[in-house]
Amino acid sequence: MKKDGDIFRFASNEFSEKSAARLSNDSFLRALFKEETAYTPIWLMRQAGRYLPEYRALRERVGSFARLYKDPELSCEVALFPLARFPLDAAIVFSDILTIPDAMGLGLSFIENEGPKFEYPLRDERAIRELFVPDPFDRLRYLADAVSTTRHALAGRVPLIGFTGSPYTLACYMIEGGISKDYRFVKTMIYDRPDLMHHILDVVADAALSCLNAQIESGAQVAMIFDSCGGVLSTAAFREFSLPYTRRVVAGLIKEKEGERIPSIIFTKGGGAWLESIADTGCASLGLDWMTDLGEARRRVGGKVSLQGNLDPQALFAAPDRVAVEAVKVIDSYGPDATGLVFNLGHGVSQFTPPEHVAALVEAVHRYTRKPKSTKKTR
Ligand code: CP3
Repeated sequence: MKKDGDIFRFASNEFSEKSAARLSNDSFLRALFKEETAYTPIWLMRQAGRYLPEYRALRERVGSFARLYKDPELSCEVALFPLARFPLDAAIVFSDILTIPDAMGLGLSFIENEGPKFEYPLRDERAIRELFVPDPFDRLRYLADAVSTTRHALAGRVPLIGFTGSPYTLACYMIEGGISKDYRFVKTMIYDRPDLMHHILDVVADAALSCLNAQIESGAQVAMIFDSCGGVLSTAAFREFSLPYTRRVVAGLIKEKEGERIPSIIFTKGGGAWLESIADTGCASLGLDWMTDLGEARRRVGGKVSLQGNLDPQALFAAPDRVAVEAVKVIDSYGPDATGLVFNLGHGVSQFTPPEHVAALVEAVHRYTRKPKSTKKTR
């Protein structure tokens, strides 16, 4: 099999034109860069997951979530499930943010109805001092291979998103050992031993960066950073423990590959208070949770970045016609000109979402935003 990159090896001046032509739907990339699009592109966080019966059946057959994402062919198959059902405008690599701490030796398992658990959470100074940056092409080879397999299978249909957790969010799971309600161990460390927290973040930032760059080298066309736990911090703590490390990851990312710019998206759940400073990291786009008003966010970031969001994922429990109404409200909240908007949910799709409601959402977003501007409600 010929690798994509080889084709253009000797013709660097032609990179841009030819590689753009390789994507049959580039609306997602264009919207991330605030360029005009024929309609508002849409994809959904966790679009490939348990709400899809074909996902549940395949997981049942192979035995576990980990077996799916550790096998590049299966990972690719799952990433394509939602695209076979809905005309989504982006694909995301099927994996998990916690593969990085797993590769750092923390022993990850996923327990049914409980979520992720680490066998060796970071609880003592010695373990923290021994942390190392794993080689992404060795211990995370399966991830790089999942990216290249999925990119190849997409055959230019839509762009492929690679991702990592933010250093702070990864550190939270590594210290707590799993999902936490009160972040007791993390907060104890932040206030008692900030030096140890900074050491963890330092190593994890390098690990996250090298893992995301490995995904870009393997064919990811967009880089997304999930700071799902950032919103539990005070403003001062966010500025000290989350933002600088995310900024470091953004700064180190490969910015261009084969003549194509690689945009980055930062999603900070609960980060509504800090949009200006997150927009200042150099990312192309901000992912917004459903608590933040899109129009207000747009005014605050002042055109610096595009925005991605932000329907309440639980709105998808409502009947399809209600889902369509809620989608329109989100689009209208952004303002009359939807340039620079990528439609998404404010967090991942719930496993209890009926797939037909997702179909209604995708249809509504495309239909409503394709209308000529003059027939659209203006404010
Ligand atoms: O479709 C996609 O979005 C791509 C795949 C993807 C998964 N996890 C698959 C997954 C992505 C991008 C993630 C990111 C992720 N993983 C985050 C950041 C985004 C967020 O949700 O805030 C976090 C915090 C994790 C860690 C994680 N993984 C948790 C907390 C859980 C358990 C809770 C849950 O929602 O299931 C997981 C499991 C997980 N990750 C599943 C999937 C499909 C479910 C696995 C299963 O039981 O089959």
